[in-house]
Amino acid sequence: MVRVSVLFVCLGNICRSPTAHAVFQSMVDDAGLTKAIYVDGAGTGDWHLGHAPDARSSATAAERGYDMSALRSRLVTVEDFSTFDYIIAMDADNLRNLRAMCPPESKATLQLLLDYSRHPEYDAVSEVPDPYYGGEDGFPHVLDLIEDSTAALLTHVKAEIATASVVQG
Ligand code: 4NP
Repeated sequence: MVRVSVLFVCLGNICRSPTAHAVFQSMVDDAGLTKAIYVDGAGTGDWHLGHAPDARSSATAAERGYDMSALRSRLVTVEDFSTFDYIIAMDADNLRNLRAMCPPESKATLQLLLDYSRHPEYDAVSEVPDPYYGGEDGFPHVLDLIEDSTAALLTHVKAEIATASVVQG
């Protein structure tokens, strides 16, 4: 039974959010929580709808054992704000766009992924930078940031599930 649902959001849904989706899904699966935590990704821009992730993102992720091959780009929808408990944006622009389309009755928590960053080296960094128009070295950096902060997000979500289990008995 799904207890918590998490949606990762970037601009194109072909680089950063599918990377976060694949990394977090892998951590969730390794923790034996596949049925308890539902993970998805979406974009705020529609240029790549239905497309597979960017080949540079997929190759970088594959080098560290993450499989992005099944993921396809989709847009954030108004329904997402009632479906998902956490809607996690990669950068401040994404978060601003999400807040603008969020229905007032939504109970979703809207945050930046790097709010969860726990690596001192990243203290001054608040956004996962858009690697799309940059050089190849942007992709491993994006993956470093995502691995660090999704691990902390999973710790947070696991604690929430444990607390809910105690309350529900
Ligand atoms: P993403 O990267 O938001 O991390 O998926 C981008 C992908 C495509 C574009 C911009 C950013 N684009 O302008 O097409």
